[in-house]
Amino acid sequence: MQENYWQGKWCIEVAPAPAVLVLFGAGGDLAQRKLFPSLYRLFRRGLLHEDSVILGCARAPLETAAFREKVRGALPADDPGARERFLDVIYYLRGDYRQDETYQALGAELRALDRKESATPLNHLFYLAISTTLYGEVIGRLAGAGLLREPESGVPWRHVVLEKPFGHDLASAEALDHELHRSLTESQICRIDHYLGKETVQNIAMLRFANLVFEPVWNRHYVDHVQITVAEELGVEHRAGYYEQSGLLRDMFQNHMLEMLALAAMEMPQSFLPDAVRDEKLKLIRSIRPFDSACPAADFVRAQYVAGAGLPGYREEPGVAADSNIETYVAARLFIDNWRWRDVPFYLRSGKRLGRKLSEIAIVFKHVPHSIFSPIRSADMEPDTLVLKVQPEEGMALTIQAKQPGPKLCMGGMTLHFNYAEFAGADNLDAYARLLLDALLGDQTLFIRSDVIAASWQLFSPVLDAWRDSPDCSPLHFYPAGTDGPDAAARLLFQDHREWRPL
Ligand code: BG6
Repeated sequence: MQENYWQGKWCIEVAPAPAVLVLFGAGGDLAQRKLFPSLYRLFRRGLLHEDSVILGCARAPLETAAFREKVRGALPADDPGARERFLDVIYYLRGDYRQDETYQALGAELRALDRKESATPLNHLFYLAISTTLYGEVIGRLAGAGLLREPESGVPWRHVVLEKPFGHDLASAEALDHELHRSLTESQICRIDHYLGKETVQNIAMLRFANLVFEPVWNRHYVDHVQITVAEELGVEHRAGYYEQSGLLRDMFQNHMLEMLALAAMEMPQSFLPDAVRDEKLKLIRSIRPFDSACPAADFVRAQYVAGAGLPGYREEPGVAADSNIETYVAARLFIDNWRWRDVPFYLRSGKRLGRKLSEIAIVFKHVPHSIFSPIRSADMEPDTLVLKVQPEEGMALTIQAKQPGPKLCMGGMTLHFNYAEFAGADNLDAYARLLLDALLGDQTLFIRSDVIAASWQLFSPVLDAWRDSPDCSPLHFYPAGTDGPDAAARLLFQDHREWRPL
């Protein structure tokens, strides 16, 4: 670990020990689009140990040279020398995930690399960028071949990285968990939520717990309500097969939205160590008031996009059933039953094919109790609002009331902006690079623990059941592509005399 004081900032930069990263699904979309470019970024920053090796594993009948060629096409061409050095650490193993020979060959390969590459024993990280339906089988076979066994000291370690979805509902999440824990301990599992790798999402903890000014007002006495938005311009793209089974609540709420909410609302952890942070998230999620399981319509709006702005509707997308009732938009109101947040509404919305791509958390404060600026009443003043901007721009904005310059007494909202790009330059790691780095370090802070997943399914499974069993009570609404979402979502806030922030 390297700790230093840099340009007025305390920095801790930790470089991972040498490892073999075994990438299942190495030829797939995620590996080519996200994982290899992110690993390359780490390599260029000196954050992939020089003795580390990446072993791509997939079914395609390729040799290492041809596989390197494929990866080359996925990397930026800005520094050909670095790119070639990076490609030199990549190897390829052809294999069928359902056959024992694959794991025997993998075992032989790993043993050979262990002997050859480094004076320090290599950690092994198995990244499963494959269908979740294969998780149980692949992990069982890895364990059967002895490849997940760790020495008692835990060093060198054997860890597994998994991508969502972690189950389809509470029962399937528990079944998956049970299957994983037959071969792995919880400390060997890294479950990815790529939102946790985003710079501004990580900043929430530092903003709240490394500053004095926010904590005194971060509660029901000063906060009127909170809005969390993840809006996308894109539609379902080529993922109809997955999306038709999933829908937006499973795809975005059960994971990304809830993780952001937990970071914004949890109590201060005892330390910034992985389990201390995850304990607080768990406590927070368990404090969310359960929804009406017979009919959650008072707190949930579900909707689907129809054609608009020259774009097709969801039901016209390739692979989508012509009568599909899958939701592509959800707006929700929830309450956290604890001393800090009792009766403060948290409004969450996320949707595909909306007017703009935007992810943010907005803390909207209460009005001042009394105005001395008659005839302006306190209720006429815009409430102070702190916006944590996750994307596309990463940063923060605080809107407060100020006197507009000039001889008249004019009051207006004035916004203080903070932009991450100016703060840190263009040197940020993207979310996947950050999470891969943490996985290589064996640091679990930004990965999701199984009890947190179970708690989030416990919250949302009854809503999904009610939508399935009593569709009349929670009707599916519709919104034209390219708009701000359905009118019913606006009504959810109107009933509380509030409105959504514009997209
Ligand atoms: C993924 C979802 O987890 O997150 C996608 O499966 C969604 O449906 C994506 O588009 C959004 O991520 P980002 O980083 O583009 O906001």
